[in-house]
Amino acid sequence: AKVPKFVTPLLVPPVMPRAGTLTLQDGTSADYYEISVEQFSQQILPTGLPATTVWGYGALRSASTSGLLLHRAPSLTIEGRWRRPVRIKWVNGLVDDRGNYLPHLLPVDPTLHWANPPGGTTGRDTRPTFRSTPGPYAGPVPMVTHVHGAVGVGDESDGYPEAWFLPAAKNVPQGYATEGTWHGFFRRKAASGFGASWGRGYAVFQYPLDQRESTLWYHDHTLGMTRVNVYAGPAGFFFVRGGPSGEGAIRDRRTGRAAVLPGPGPRAGDAFPSRRTYYEIPLAIQDRAFNRDGSLFYPDSREFFDGATAQDPGLVPHSDLSPIWNPEFFGNAIMVNGNTWPFHEVEKRRYRLRLLNGCQARFLVLDFGQIPGVKVWVIGNEGGFLARPVNLTADHGNRLLMSPAERFDLIVDFTDVPVGSWVLGNVGPDEPFGGGEAPGDFDAADPSTTGRVLQFRVRPARTPDPSTPAQFLVLPPVPSLPRATRTRRLALVEIASSVWDGPAQARLGELDAEGMPLGMMWEEDVTENPRLDDTEVWEIHNFTADAHPIHVHETTFQVLNRQGLVVNDAGEAEPPARLLGAPRPPEAWESGFKETVIAYPGEVTRIRARFGRAGQYVWHCHIVEHEDNEMMRPYRIGPAQP
Ligand code: C2O
Ligand code: CU
Repeated sequence: AKVPKFVTPLLVPPVMPRAGTLTLQDGTSADYYEISVEQFSQQILPTGLPATTVWGYGALRSASTSGLLLHRAPSLTIEGRWRRPVRIKWVNGLVDDRGNYLPHLLPVDPTLHWANPPGGTTGRDTRPTFRSTPGPYAGPVPMVTHVHGAVGVGDESDGYPEAWFLPAAKNVPQGYATEGTWHGFFRRKAASGFGASWGRGYAVFQYPLDQRESTLWYHDHTLGMTRVNVYAGPAGFFFVRGGPSGEGAIRDRRTGRAAVLPGPGPRAGDAFPSRRTYYEIPLAIQDRAFNRDGSLFYPDSREFFDGATAQDPGLVPHSDLSPIWNPEFFGNAIMVNGNTWPFHEVEKRRYRLRLLNGCQARFLVLDFGQIPGVKVWVIGNEGGFLARPVNLTADHGNRLLMSPAERFDLIVDFTDVPVGSWVLGNVGPDEPFGGGEAPGDFDAADPSTTGRVLQFRVRPARTPDPSTPAQFLVLPPVPSLPRATRTRRLALVEIASSVWDGPAQARLGELDAEGMPLGMMWEEDVTENPRLDDTEVWEIHNFTADAHPIHVHETTFQVLNRQGLVVNDAGEAEPPARLLGAPRPPEAWESGFKETVIAYPGEVTRIRARFGRAGQYVWHCHIVEHEDNEMMRPYRIGPAQP
């Protein structure tokens, strides 16, 4: 059955209600939230089709003041203020009404290096125990939340993959580890640090928000399970507003005075659904697939091409005898803010759209060219506002490439768009984003499904537009980083499998002195260990055939350049690494600060970052299937943990 498109109104996520405010030990006041992950049913597909059981974050029922929309996938938006700390009690609420744990909605592959409550995380690789008929894990679900893009966060609050914990369920089997090895360590550290109590089934994390105004998001980060945990729903936006790099610091070139961005967006306490009109709208774009009963489809074997989906099958086939894990997942349905193919009514005026590619593995190439007369400017990315606005329409063919986890802040001007219904398209591929693929160089997404994202229904403006045209925006200055004291040579590499054809996994790690990629495992000792407050250049050499979105926790970085490497016939860099040609500068939309960067095959991507808070963090590929299977490494800032 085909899923009807553009019949469901876009839901603009409301603001997460606070549980209160509190005074920290040092006298500063902080916002306090109590947020649980729960299981519930959501009408993701259009009305008339079955609802979908999902997980999502929301205000803990006891803490909610509004009671209007408690849980949602993706979830309510956390509104943070510059330098006003946020403390959050994160509750793993995956229990039923009788207090028994709820099993996972999706197949968990127990042959990966994963949280593994029955065995606990030992830091040792359990992988060689391939079973011919791997049974999915059916126990309680480990979880830990990461605020992606938060800077200056203590490691106890960063959502370290081995700091997971189980829900406080009555029936957790005897002998199960109820927390990851690092959770216990961090629990003790947090208790001494801010006197917070961590307990069974929850952890209290704190975020200083001493960083540039930016679009963060939060999601689960459990070792070897992130792909299935996040696919089930737990993710949401987290905005940081204010400060010297904030909206208030943007000038109008014509007058020199404060510029006005399109707004407002949802505010705390707005009714739901809201009767207010929003001109600032976050859009989380995610791909999904559904079974006929409305349940989420995610492969439970490498032979998932037969999966009975609610629509035309459009999934990448794998047929190897192997464990459950798949190297990438591409759903055949596009979900925006938790509904498939929604529509949104807009006026002939400017909007600020804050985009997140929340897909598992899919690189989006958003095509605004299907909207006649539209003008699109990029003004921000993950780390806040760009150095200057980028005219996507005039200079970049009205297309925007977004890898998983990248965010872009756009001014989309509908003033000259004819009244009518127009579709935001996607011309990215339904497969991994590969070598040398400029937009248009690959088979674009299926125009009947994943080639479409969202429909705008353009109406006359009801009131004059007070916002400053994007070409007149003078964005806040981008601070420069100190000189790097060290350059690290790093590498992305595919390790062939002895079990089935094709790559077993992609890995990352050091490039040795001879230029050979080491392809390290998660369990190996830390190799990236910047000193506190140092600035370093990381050179990421990609020896694989595909592009990978590389994300570094705890910092934001500047993209310096990219440079070719000597490649083989397949376009893959040929070890040892040898540079080829001159470096090319970053893309215009990569100015300012980022924390997720596309590392293209056959190239080295150079970034410069400052490391400002000591602790144990991670860097990884944000194709979540890769991240879950060794394409992630711990890294440490400053001395080793005591
Ligand atoms: Cu969005 Cu380490 O993750
Ligand atoms: Cu990857």
